[in-house]
Order: sequence, then C-alpha cells, then structure tokens
Amino acid sequence: MKVSVILPAAGLGTRMRPGAPEKSGISRKQFMLLDGSPILFHTIRKFDACPVVDEVVVALRAEDLGWIGEMLAKENFTKPVRVVEGGETRQHSVEHALASLAPDVDIVAVHDAVRPFVDDQTIIRVIEEAARNGAAIVGIVPVDTVKQIQRHQITGTLNRDRLILAQTPQVFHASLLREAFRKAREDEFIGTDESSLVERLEQVNVMVVPGSDRNIKITKPSDIQLAKAFLAEEAEKRKSH
Ligand code: C5P
Repeated sequence: MKVSVILPAAGLGTRMRPGAPEKSGISRKQFMLLDGSPILFHTIRKFDACPVVDEVVVALRAEDLGWIGEMLAKENFTKPVRVVEGGETRQHSVEHALASLAPDVDIVAVHDAVRPFVDDQTIIRVIEEAARNGAAIVGIVPVDTVKQIQRHQITGTLNRDRLILAQTPQVFHASLLREAFRKAREDEFIGTDESSLVERLEQVNVMVVPGSDRNIKITKPSDIQLAKAFLAEEAEKRKSH
C-alpha cells in the first residue's frame, strides 16, 4: 500500500493579520519559525517519521518553490519530500498536488501544513481506517455549543452530540479523492475541507477517528504560545527516551 501525504501550504495567511502586506512572510504562519524551523517543517517531520507514509508533497506558491525547496533539500528527510505549485484556493492547491501523484499511489492523506502537533498513532489510525473504508478523517467533539446565526441573531442550536470538529489528516483512497475533485470541478463546488468533496459524491461513508486538542491549527496569534509550549514538551519527551 503506497501512501502519499499532501500538505497545502500555498496560502497567504491573511486570517492571522488581516490587512498584512500580501507577500509578507510574517503573516504566513506556515513559514513562521518555531525553535529555528518553519512550522511547515515541523509538520513534515511528523509524516517523515511515520512508518506508514511513503512520500510528502507540499503545495507552495510559485515564489516560494525556490527558497523552500532549497531549505527542504538540506533537511535530510528519510522519505521523498516534493514541492508542487499551489493554486488560487486551498482546494486548487490540493488538486495540483493530487495531479502530481504517481498512478500507483493507493492512499492520499491531506493535512494542514500548520498542524505540526499531530501524533504518530493518529496518523496511523486514520490511514488504516481509510484503507479499510475508503475515507476517514480526524475529528474532535466540540466543548462549546454551536449556534446558527443570521445577522447576529440566533436562528438555531445544533445538537452537540451529533457534531464533530473536523481536523486533519483527512485520508482517502486515491481513486475516490480524484473522482471527488473531478466532480467538484464539474459542479464548481468549493469546500473548506477535502471530506466535503468526498461526502457529496455519496459513494462511501466518511469515518471519524478521534483526534486530540493538541492537534491545533496554528491560526491566531495566541496559538503561537500554545505551540511553543507543545514543542518544549515534545523536546522534553525526546530527551527522556
Ligand atoms: O482551511 P484553511 O483555509 O485555513 O486552509 C488553509 C491552508 O491551505 C493553509 O495551510 C494554506 O497555506 C493552504 N492554502 C493553499 N493554497 C491556497 C490557499 C491556502 O495551499 N491558495
């Protein structure tokens, strides 16, 4: 079973600092240094170290292919780590990476470049579940009650027992994901995650594997403090082993 991991990292990261200059590296948290390495590299290391993963493909903006490619080459990863040019949206970036995969890839895992604290066991579990079932994602139960609103007024309360917050990895049989992207393109559907593209095919039920609140998506400035604390803990654990 050949497993490829796609990391979309071609965003501008405008959410963290709205109004930041377009190409400023500061607002692009995938390149923000943590402990001397870009967050993206911390994420790649998790997959490089995972025994069930065969290769990592990173989608980057055209202007980042050169300098990030050079930095990656110096990292001595044990597995192939390739870069491809991303697209206009996250979905297009993943689509480009998917198109670059060899035909013999069986399983594709898509993971946010800015979630460096995913653990080995979660990666393995979600890949195994997807291999069995066709599709599986990592999710956690919400601790807050989720409301629907319209113009600052609540229009509904969702039953928390029936909700999960979708994290990544999101993992699929390669053929199923290709079909989902083909259909999304045909229907001009743009989703905020890969699972939504597969769900609308109605071919398989997407399974959910429990995630962890450590698997944070570094999005807000306050996440950086949390990330530093998690990194320090990981370093401590490595030392004690
Ligand atoms: O889910 P969200 O919109 O936060 O996903 C953002 C992720 O997708 C980031 O890792 C970002 O770098 C990536 N992205 C991309 N290509 C784009 C826009 C975003 O790879 N055109």
